[in-house]
Amino acid sequence: MLAEAVDGLNIRPDGTYVDVTFGGGGHSRAIMERLGPEGHLVAFDQDEDAAKRVESGEWRVESDARFTFIGENFRYLKSYLRLHGVRRIDGLLADLGVSSHQFDVAERGFSTRFEGALDLRMDRRAATTARDLVNGADEEELARVLRLYGELPNARQMARAIVRWRTGGERRDIVTTTDLKEAVSHHLPRGMENKYLAMLFQALRIEVNGELDALREMLSQAVELLPPGGRLVVISYHSLEDRLVKNFMRSGNFEGVVEKDFYGNPLVPLKQLASLAASPEEVAANSRARSARLRVGERVESGKLKVES
Ligand SMILES: C[S@@+](CC[C@H](N)C(=O)[O-])C[C@H]1O[C@@H](n2cnc3c(N)ncnc32)[C@H](O)[C@@H]1O
Repeated sequence: MLAEAVDGLNIRPDGTYVDVTFGGGGHSRAIMERLGPEGHLVAFDQDEDAAKRVESGEWRVESDARFTFIGENFRYLKSYLRLHGVRRIDGLLADLGVSSHQFDVAERGFSTRFEGALDLRMDRRAATTARDLVNGADEEELARVLRLYGELPNARQMARAIVRWRTGGERRDIVTTTDLKEAVSHHLPRGMENKYLAMLFQALRIEVNGELDALREMLSQAVELLPPGGRLVVISYHSLEDRLVKNFMRSGNFEGVVEKDFYGNPLVPLKQLASLAASPEEVAANSRARSARLRVGERVESGKLKVES
């Protein structure tokens, strides 16, 4: 979806663009290739490993004056852009979720496949890890997280199993990904073990990183920075994210309710131009792309757009 996402930005060589999820820099590189000498790309990533990749020279942009890296959470988009003198942008790209670099490091705990510390923080400066969450929260709180962010049908039973592991016969903290898998092992339906584990890890990851709140805050700020014609491109990897993006592109709010002015004209800041799933070839090459959804929106002047109901 790299080409479709970058095409969606409709890049002007002298424009200012933001990639809020630098990761391994694949999308940033493709954007830079389309910028001329007057263009500017600002990239965000809250993971210090992404910052190290930029600093290491591996990416060969550290001396490119057209590139600025900000090692912070994109929920502070507007403040950090202002700090760098950017008050208006021509397009913003968000390729949400976890990067393959993060998945592949066992000790960061992102992958259900490896034995590793139960961490799951994208920003290792953050105070709370998944280990703190599963050992500190009560059954009610854990069930809420698993139901809301993992959409697990048996969230309550899993939450109870986690609490039992800590307080019952085992009486020890859940420290590693393997401990967590053992704690819930009786609640993974046969043949669906991996799916349920992925849902469980997703739930903990979303909570630990405050992912949905960060997404809401970033999208709200993005429309304030885009002039009419500016583009918003988002790739999401699960239905919770995509629902927020879809509603926002449709209505400018996260409930998806289109507000109207006194005369009945819809007050919407964006017009959705495209909504695409990954091609079968891309899914064959990268199984994560199976759940990916790319949406492209264009900033319009509020109140000037007629939306189809
Ligand atoms: C799917 S990867 C992006 C991959 C990238 N497009 C590429 O071409 O390599 C998502 C990246 O976004 C970062 N990220 C996720 N949420 C973030 C947030 N709220 N603020 C800043 N970075 C975030 C993650 O640390 C991760 O490196």
